[in-house]
Amino acid sequence: MEISNGVNLYICEICGEAHIGVEKPGDCPFCGAKGNFIKSGKEACPIVNERIEISELSKNNLLETLELETKATAIYLCMAEKSETYEIKAMYKRLAKVESEHAAIVIKLLDIKMPETKSEECFSEDLDNFKKTIELEDRAVGLYKRFAGEAVENNIRKFFGALTQVEAGHSELIKKYI
Ligand SMILES: [Fe+2]
Ligand SMILES: [Fe+2]
Repeated sequence: MEISNGVNLYICEICGEAHIGVEKPGDCPFCGAKGNFIKSGKEACPIVNERIEISELSKNNLLETLELETKATAIYLCMAEKSETYEIKAMYKRLAKVESEHAAIVIKLLDIKMPETKSEECFSEDLDNFKKTIELEDRAVGLYKRFAGEAVENNIRKFFGALTQVEAGHSELIKKYI
């Protein structure tokens, strides 16, 4: 049995999380950022590791993002609970983790504490939940595109650019189920 398999360390420049594996992952397993944001441990400059001044506008946009992401996390946990199959349950649990990672990035950027999680309602049928999910994700895509355009800070622009792609991917995934 082969034991050594040449693992490496990779770091996502969006969430700052490290991945240990043989190959660089296609997308970040934590925040879902595209592979081009994932670098070898030595090269990575995560946006959450830079201390920068954040404009009032970006601060407000980040706070709105935090609210959206924590709400989405709670909604997806509800949807996971209600789902009829293991597949859909697993998918919503992953979506909840990704959105909670997005919230975690925001609190690191703003250097604030994570707000208390409130529980959210959802539908009892998967199909209704899918439609609600697409609505939420498409709204996030529109907002984050705007926030990226409004950001004067490089790392905030990079963050919203990456999130726009991630949320668009979520919407695309759900559309395969309806
Ligand atoms: Fe990440
Ligand atoms: Fe998100």
